[in-house]
Amino acid sequence: MNMNRKTFIRGLGIGALGAVTAPGVLASVPRATPIALPAYNPSEDAAFWRAVKSQYSLDPELHYMNTGGLGPAATPVLKFYTDTIWEHQRHGEHGHDTFHKARQVVADFFTAESSEICFTRNATEGNSIIAGGLDLREGDEVIFEDHAHPGGSGPWFLQQNRRGVVVKLFTPDPESVEGNLARIRELITPRTRVIQISHVTAPTGIVLPAAEIAELAQEHGIWFHIDGAQSAGMFPFKVIELGCDSYATSGHKWMGAPHETGVLFIRKERNHEVAPIAAGSYTGEIPSHLPGNLIYDHDASRHEYATRNAAAVVSVAAAVNFQKKVGRKRIAAHGRALAVQLHEGLLRIPTVEVLTPTRPELRASITTFRTPRIGYSELFSLLMKDHHFRCRPVSEQNLDATRISTHLFNTAEECEQLLAAIDSIVRKA
Ligand SMILES: Cc1ncc(COP(=O)(O)O)c(C=O)c1O
Repeated sequence: MNMNRKTFIRGLGIGALGAVTAPGVLASVPRATPIALPAYNPSEDAAFWRAVKSQYSLDPELHYMNTGGLGPAATPVLKFYTDTIWEHQRHGEHGHDTFHKARQVVADFFTAESSEICFTRNATEGNSIIAGGLDLREGDEVIFEDHAHPGGSGPWFLQQNRRGVVVKLFTPDPESVEGNLARIRELITPRTRVIQISHVTAPTGIVLPAAEIAELAQEHGIWFHIDGAQSAGMFPFKVIELGCDSYATSGHKWMGAPHETGVLFIRKERNHEVAPIAAGSYTGEIPSHLPGNLIYDHDASRHEYATRNAAAVVSVAAAVNFQKKVGRKRIAAHGRALAVQLHEGLLRIPTVEVLTPTRPELRASITTFRTPRIGYSELFSLLMKDHHFRCRPVSEQNLDATRISTHLFNTAEECEQLLAAIDSIVRKA
């Protein structure tokens, strides 16, 4: 493992987490009994969200605020997943024939067509299919932000190493839509082939102006790809309104699907421009008697290949159905309201600086902050060890910060407790 990877993993606090989840620190407590989800009634908002929370098998002693890293699946989704595994194992079948129905459900979630949906294993794979599949030559340029997650930057650095693609970076502007457009515009040259953005940036939760950037890309005939690992399931949108040519996300974050799931959307008019980066069963027509040629399928599913964990794939549809039951707009409003509550509370704590934008169009359900009084790694450990809050340390670009994700199973009450915990740590530091 090289030092950068080591540094990044250390930055995520995985070492520290290993230590704090050792026996005796977070004792295993029986799971909460699920409360049937009531019809939403604004006058009983807190009771509704308590019922939602009870649908998760999270340890009741743990305040899980790291959906941006990994989102737990709700118990009904996990049950569907495990039942499906057993069913496939009972019959010795791989279950690929069940993809079709799930693909339609997932396409509806993004307001796309099912022919535009590819089931991947994670967002990195979706980004890699685009970076590896587009016909790029030495000297062709790609623009993305310097806050990109390794799952967003890695696929392009690979193309830099292998094909001589030139990476050009902009720093996201937390202040304005125009600022972001200007920073991208000044990097465009006649060799620019691709603009990629994180829909919501991983370190500080900036919502980048996708539709406006799409217009800019279109004006210059540039492929526009969105890394949506931090947006799908956080708030609803129609992928076509983002104006992108392709959009990749993880299932296992805000969507609440099982681990190792992802979705890649490719606009149907442009899928022919993305060659598969791996080929086998389901890529297209391969003659059964060799020699012969491989003829790619038209649909985005041609980027899927070979035997998969079908139970995980179709559980993405179960996760989508669970979100629909709770209410997608309601989930977005809840996560955002908690983020605003945190933002306002953090600003009352001496020395604390919030790095997430205040402007509503530039933010959603992530709140990142820092204080000169205590380093991110130590703060992360204290929050976890002494208060049982699982946040995410932000080591990227030396931001030295802490990221809090607020999703449907988080509550206003635990946000107050988190603020009190941060306040007491900062005052003692
Ligand atoms: C913006 C972004 N892209 C990509 C990834 C990688 O996700 P995955 O592990 O699903 O590939 C992450 C993970 O946090 C992310 O935040």
